[in-house]
Amino acid sequence: MKNTFKQLLYSLIVVLGALLFVLSMKLELAQNYILLFEVLCASMMLFAVVRIWMLHKQDLKDKKAAATDTKPGICSMEHAHQLDNPFRKLGHNAGRLFKKYINKGDTVIDVGCGTGIFSIGIAKMVGEQGKVLAVDLQQGMLDIVAEKIKGSKYEKTIELIKSAAESTGLTEPADFIIAFYLVHEVPSAENFFKEMHSLLKAGKYLYIAEPPHHTTTESFAEMITVAEKCGFEIAAKPTVIMGRTAVFCRRAKEVNSEQ
Ligand SMILES: C[S@@+](CC[C@H](N)C(=O)[O-])C[C@H]1O[C@@H](n2cnc3c(N)ncnc32)[C@H](O)[C@@H]1O
Repeated sequence: MKNTFKQLLYSLIVVLGALLFVLSMKLELAQNYILLFEVLCASMMLFAVVRIWMLHKQDLKDKKAAATDTKPGICSMEHAHQLDNPFRKLGHNAGRLFKKYINKGDTVIDVGCGTGIFSIGIAKMVGEQGKVLAVDLQQGMLDIVAEKIKGSKYEKTIELIKSAAESTGLTEPADFIIAFYLVHEVPSAENFFKEMHSLLKAGKYLYIAEPPHHTTTESFAEMITVAEKCGFEIAAKPTVIMGRTAVFCRRAKEVNSEQ
């Protein structure tokens, strides 16, 4: 049912409640019954008014999401500042988390880069000969990264790429891929892992981390199973604050997509 129709229905309930309330005063009933009747009418009206208010709030939220081009289930621009929380940076530090996997001159994909909390750190690690492909489906997120690196040497190293939800559209082989707080947002984990498998050079690593408040232990285990089915081998499960984390190695041998 559309929200407008529901709002109309609840408005009718309010009017009906008010009419019954007035009517109860005209009825010749015992005082206790009148009181009970009035309480019922008032509760009915209160319930309907609360529902109208909630629907109105929902409408405002949907309009805002539409205005920022955010699809349901995707970290909205409204929450972009939370990604840059200074306390988060203490634990989620590219240098510390990825030093084992990144070398100077590497090409690294930061898929679902958001505000670029890792892209800039990785750009420092790969140096001027390397490259960071910072991919996100929201132009607003990419604009934040662009603003952060404007006028710096990282403008040359970081390439900002607006992707579609279903695919990054990339073709360049990568030495390392990170997908931090992303997999729970993609439309199909299987398609995602297949695409990452095709982008990653053989023997190289894909690092995923999921927020525990969005991804349960069971759904994370399910993601690992899907990744393995797509040709990845689990290489490590590092301990990361506020993250269910797995590092996968791309198996050298191609897997049968029918598997
Ligand atoms: C929770 S944020 C995490 C951002 C960043 N990785 C971090 O850890 O701060 C998820 C980001 O992934 C992006 N995203 C969601 N689905 C995507 C998809 N299918 N392809 C590319 N980016 C996606 C969202 O726009 C959002 O910026």
